[in-house]
Amino acid sequence: MGRKVSIGVLVSGNGSNLQSLIDRIDQGALDADIKLVISNNPNAFSIERCRKHGIPFFVLDHRLFGSRVLFDCRMIELLTAAGVELVLMAGFMRILSEEFFKAFPLRIMNIHPALLPAFPGTHVQKKALDYGVKFSGCTVHFADEGVDSGPIILQAVVPVLDDDDEESLSARILKEEHRIYPLAVQYYAEGRIEVEGRKVRIRNSTLTN
Ligand code: GRF
Repeated sequence: MGRKVSIGVLVSGNGSNLQSLIDRIDQGALDADIKLVISNNPNAFSIERCRKHGIPFFVLDHRLFGSRVLFDCRMIELLTAAGVELVLMAGFMRILSEEFFKAFPLRIMNIHPALLPAFPGTHVQKKALDYGVKFSGCTVHFADEGVDSGPIILQAVVPVLDDDDEESLSARILKEEHRIYPLAVQYYAEGRIEVEGRKVRIRNSTLTN
């Protein structure tokens, strides 16, 4: 087991990925402390999850801020004050500004429900179905200033079945998200992630993803 990494989680909605992090920590399989959860959506179910598990959270309604940068600066203040080292975007539906990336260089991860670089952006399970791909999956990557474009840490593949709809494919992908996101964070906690340009290597990995 590695040292405990202090994480901050950014959410906008249901928070099933947040839940998977909470559960792995509770099981002793993830050396992390959730120092703070920030939701930009006052009605996100994620907030209920925080209440239930006694996790500190802050609702920061982006609509009350004059600009994206002001909103991001407030997030930086809160995360820094909470001692957050690694920021995890988990269904966070906001684009981050340059200021935010400067505050947490290579210390922001995102989970995306497609095999990047295919299908960046939103509604990607539907886009994958409409395109007719036979496999899709999910990607954990370091976030950068592009849309879903940073260095890829882990990916998991799922089949696309003939009778899939958006819901069934999303559920199959989500199951893998809940597996690989905590795993990527654990690799980070163990200091095993090496980044060289776009390439990410996991030191001493016995896994093939
Ligand atoms: C997930 O599919 C994630 O990949 C995407 O948004 C969804 C969030 O789900 N970025 P949840 O809020 O974690 O349940």
